[in-house]
Amino acid sequence: MSRFPFGTPFGWYPVAWSSEIAAGDVVRRDYFGEALVAFRTLEGEASVLDAYCPHLGAHLGVGGKVEADGIRCPFHGWKFGGDGSCVDVPYAKRKPQNVRARPYPTRETAGLVWAWYHPNGGAPSFEPPSIPEFGAEDWTPDWTRYEWTIRSHPQEISENSIDWPHLTEVHLMEPPPNRSVEFVGHEIQWQTTTSKNVTTLDDEHDDIVITGRNPGLGCSYVRYTGMGDSVILMGMTPVDDEKLHLRFGVIGKRSGRSETEMAEFHQAYSDDMAAAVEQDFPIWENKTYHERPRLCDGDGPVGDYRSWAAQFYVDAETGR
Ligand code: FES
Ligand SMILES: [Fe+2]
Repeated sequence: MSRFPFGTPFGWYPVAWSSEIAAGDVVRRDYFGEALVAFRTLEGEASVLDAYCPHLGAHLGVGGKVEADGIRCPFHGWKFGGDGSCVDVPYAKRKPQNVRARPYPTRETAGLVWAWYHPNGGAPSFEPPSIPEFGAEDWTPDWTRYEWTIRSHPQEISENSIDWPHLTEVHLMEPPPNRSVEFVGHEIQWQTTTSKNVTTLDDEHDDIVITGRNPGLGCSYVRYTGMGDSVILMGMTPVDDEKLHLRFGVIGKRSGRSETEMAEFHQAYSDDMAAAVEQDFPIWENKTYHERPRLCDGDGPVGDYRSWAAQFYVDAETGR
C-alpha cells in the first residue's frame, strides 16, 4: 500500500538536463515505475521512448546506438525513430507493420528535456514552461544544479508552495506579510514577500520577493528578487509510487558584478537556496497525507490547492 493515495499525476516532468544528452547520446532513466530511454539524434532532437524494444525486449538504453535520426537496438538491430516507429529491420524482407516503441511526448525548454507522462497515454493538454531568462544575456548561462532522490510525491512537494506558516518554522524566514495565490487552469500563480539571513554569505539579511508558477505537478519555478535576481526551477519526477527525483536549478542575473564576483556570489547564494530545500526533506520523507487535515485561519489555501491538483489524475471509473 503506497504512502500516498494519489497514483502518478499526468503532466510534464524533467527527465534530463539538456547538457546531459549530447548529440548521439543515449541515456537510461527509471521514472514513473517504468524503464525509459532518452536519446538525441545527430541533428539535435531529443526523444524519450519506453526502454524495452517491442521485438524481444532488449533495453534500448543499454547498448542502443543513435544512428542519424533514430536509435538502433543492441539485440537484433531494429531501428526506431523518435516517435517510436520501427524504421528498419536489417534482416527482414518485409518490415513488420504497426510496430512501435511506446513514445513519451518530448519537449526541450529552459535547458531541460521534458517527457509527458499520462497513465493512459493521453496527449499533452498543456506545455512545459519556457523561461526567457534562461540563455539570456546578463544571466548565468546554465543552471547551477542540485539533485536528490527522496521519499515523497509531487503533490506533497507542490503543496509546500502555498504552505505559508512552514516558511517560518522550517526555513527560518520571516512570516510572509504579503502573499497571494491564484489557481488558473493548469497553473498555480503565487507571490510572497519574506526575509531571511543567507548563511552562505555571512548571514547577510536578505529581503525577498518570490513570484512562483506551478504548471501542473511536475515542476515549479520562481522568480526571486533579493540580494540577487534569480530564477529557480524545481523538477519533481516520480521514480515510482514512493520516491521522486528532485532537480533544483538556479540561474542568476549578473547585475553589474564581474564574472568572478558573480561566479562566487551565485554559487554561495544558490547553495543557501538548496540548503533551504533540504530543510524540508525530513518533513516530506516522514509525514503522512491527511485526507481531512485540521486547518486554521493562518494556513495557506490547502483545500483549494488540493481541488486544483485533482485535475491531474485520471478517474479510475471513466478513464478520463
Ligand atoms: S530485441 Fe530489439 S531488435 Fe530484437
Ligand atoms: Fe519548504
